[in-house]
Amino acid sequence: MTAPTVGRPDYARLIQADRVHGSLYTDPRIFADELARIWYRTWVYVGHESEVPEPNDYVVKNIGPQSVIMTRDRHGTVHLLLNRCSHRANQLCEAARGNTGALRCQYHGWTFGTDGSLLGYPFRQGYDGNEAKASLGLGRVTRVDSYQGFVFGSFAADGPTLREHLGAATDVLDRVVRLSPENEVRLTAGWLRHEVRANWKMLVENETDGYHPQFVHASIFEVGQSHVAAMYSEKSAATARDLGGGHTEHDLRPQFRAEDVPLGWFGTTVDRLPDYVRAMREVHGDATAREILVDGSPHVMIFPNLFIAEIQMFVIQPLAVDHTIQHVTPLQFKGAPDLNKRLLHQVSGSVGPAGFLLADDSEMYERNQRGVASRVPEWLVLRRGLHRERADAEGHLAGAATDETTQRGIWRHIKHLMTEGEQA
Ligand code: FES
Ligand code: FE
Repeated sequence: MTAPTVGRPDYARLIQADRVHGSLYTDPRIFADELARIWYRTWVYVGHESEVPEPNDYVVKNIGPQSVIMTRDRHGTVHLLLNRCSHRANQLCEAARGNTGALRCQYHGWTFGTDGSLLGYPFRQGYDGNEAKASLGLGRVTRVDSYQGFVFGSFAADGPTLREHLGAATDVLDRVVRLSPENEVRLTAGWLRHEVRANWKMLVENETDGYHPQFVHASIFEVGQSHVAAMYSEKSAATARDLGGGHTEHDLRPQFRAEDVPLGWFGTTVDRLPDYVRAMREVHGDATAREILVDGSPHVMIFPNLFIAEIQMFVIQPLAVDHTIQHVTPLQFKGAPDLNKRLLHQVSGSVGPAGFLLADDSEMYERNQRGVASRVPEWLVLRRGLHRERADAEGHLAGAATDETTQRGIWRHIKHLMTEGEQA
């Protein structure tokens, strides 16, 4: 009798073109592999420059389970520092945000600058001079880069640049930012934190799932008399698109949804936001302003953790194989106070403590997790729309709004990352 082979999971078998194995959501070994090959290697969204506007501002963020301090040093440079004292590893920042010239560890009082350098320590005579001090700054995320103010970090010293990683998703981020009359997103509204007992990939897949809204969100669509429901129906012209690199989009622009209502993307019209519309016209002229307002804000999942859903932004943080936090904030735009007020109000109603939208999704994540954790893990089907997806004009695979084109794109990329460097 041959002993079972113990080794890496066979990702080429577990991830197939039209199905994925349930163990991908439940096996702690696979979660450890994902940390090594995805979260602690590829570019991961961490925070936005607008969250640290002033010199010496800091905010506590994360890359998966790793706590990270995003700072702006006194010269204006943004850093991603590990939230770990270089003396005995005490977690340095407990407060979520603040402004200080010196981050002080509570254990033995070492202090660090917002650039990560060790500023000083008590009882200096116990140390042998400045040489040690120079090498005892805070650990840092290996590579830091930003696009349109969105700050990403990677623990890999080499590999694709951030621009290469984002690929076609840069266009989608451009479409978000141009909604500001001053071409700038500002995340100033604070964050909601939703914790779910589910694997992180359940969230990533659902964010880009156009099949469930008609069912899971039926009650909020009914109460809100929202036109969004129509975008995720069999009759919708909206398009599910695999942008490559694990990034996906539901394209809801009018050419894909047979609708032409300025600002219709968040259920209002131009007369409701006169100041915002006036500012956009002044900057862009009537025709371009109209085009921007009709196109609206995108619905995009930037792999592995940044989801922008028209009016709000979600950041996914995996903690364990069946434990994930989702951080949510309303999009806010520089130079658009009336729009910002409306967005804040809308997001409170959809994903706030009294909102239905995220609560309904969270219920599905946890039920899904209980399902995949069955004693005999089986396959999850990803076949919807496979026969009808095709390459669009830009060469991206596209399908109907309710097709699983997006999930297949995500899994193709995960398979690539999990098998990269393996012998064929
Ligand atoms: Fe931070 Fe000792 S652990 S000063
Ligand atoms: Fe949903």
